[in-house]
Amino acid sequence: MSLLKLDGVKVHFPLKKGVVFDRTVGHVYAVDGVSLSVEAGQTYGLVGESGCGKTTLGRAVLRLVDITDGSVVLDGTDLAHLPEEEMRKFRRRVQMVFQDPLGSLDPRQNIESILSEGMAAHGIGADREERRARIREILAKVGLPSNALSRYPHEFSGGQRQRIGIARALVLEPDVIICDEPVSALDVSIQAQVINLLEELQQSMGLTYMVIAHDLAVVRHISDVIGVMYLGSLVEEAPSDGLYAEPLHPYTKALMSAVPIPDPVVEDSRERILLTGDLPSPATPPAGCRFHTRCPWKQETRCDTERPELRDLGGGHKVACHYAAEIVAGTVRMNSAATVVEPGLVKTEKTAETAETGTAGESENSEKAAESV
Ligand SMILES: Nc1ncnc2c1ncn2[C@@H]1O[C@H](COP(=O)(O)OP(=O)(O)OP(=O)(O)O)[C@@H](O)[C@H]1O
Ligand code: SF4
Ligand SMILES: [Mg+2]
Repeated sequence: MSLLKLDGVKVHFPLKKGVVFDRTVGHVYAVDGVSLSVEAGQTYGLVGESGCGKTTLGRAVLRLVDITDGSVVLDGTDLAHLPEEEMRKFRRRVQMVFQDPLGSLDPRQNIESILSEGMAAHGIGADREERRARIREILAKVGLPSNALSRYPHEFSGGQRQRIGIARALVLEPDVIICDEPVSALDVSIQAQVINLLEELQQSMGLTYMVIAHDLAVVRHISDVIGVMYLGSLVEEAPSDGLYAEPLHPYTKALMSAVPIPDPVVEDSRERILLTGDLPSPATPPAGCRFHTRCPWKQETRCDTERPELRDLGGGHKVACHYAAEIVAGTVRMNSAATVVEPGLVKTEKTAETAETGTAGESENSEKAAESV
């Protein structure tokens, strides 16, 4: 059963100009038509480059930004059109865990005060004692000692502070937790611990997550379904295993080809797909397929005129590309100079010479994309 269902969600921020009249001169199309479902007890992983609209989408679910269009249905109720007083009640049911645990915890409040604040506001626990008992229980669940209650955020390490952030969400007994880059501010060694904790809590408490990350590796193990975002919309969505076994959208293929493989033999001979050009601005997204300015498979027709819909190619593997089926079948081939066999050997469908001259700058771009995703 889908617990959270987004349909055609758009968030367009007005671009204002002028001191006196404050004219709207355009829009940032931060989220531009996203439909997805999060099943109860499962994890939806949302990945994409910086600025593609992941955080804005998460904030839209909580109505922390104005929704321009579309619906956000939580357990049968459309939050997008709910009056503010009723929305307050629903805010408890969707909680957010943020990237920067220190920045999101008030340094002047001790942990008990931070955690009980929301509980009191939402009427959880009859009195202070009851709330304290519940907080102790949750602190134990996230692996923090009960003497943490009287301590302050600066007394904890980064990983512990993220545990406090998770506890703050849990004490409100939410239906859905949106984790926005939950481990990107943490040391690599701590990242796995926090991801494992999220997984354990999901199993023991039946939690439902949306996990936002720009690192494919972070969402891989925890997600049941993964959505890949590019410039405000989903370009691919699939069960996690299916996506990693065979990415179908050219953008996902490029991202995946840039993720290092631990086996040195495979790593040395793997092909990398290089993206040309910079990420366009969401204020002036390209017409047609938004990825056409960088797509190594771009075709003469449709790509720059017609926006592809996300369509199911079988088994819940959805792709927004006019030529996805033809790319799989091999009848639509990659344009020249887009593949590199590492290390340093350049291969194209034409000659090695043309490719070598054409890829020096592009390889940097691809690495940029690889770093950010
Ligand atoms: N309040 C706002 N007003 C205007 N533009 C905004 C606002 N919030 C976000 N944006 C713009 O919307 C786009 C999407 O931003 P968002 O923060 O959702 O991206 P993101 O995918 O979360 O990126 P990152 O990985 O860097 O966190 C960006 O171009 C951003 O500058
Ligand atoms: S629709 Fe065209 S430009 Fe867009 S991803 Fe597919 S092949 Fe590339
Ligand atoms: Mg973000």
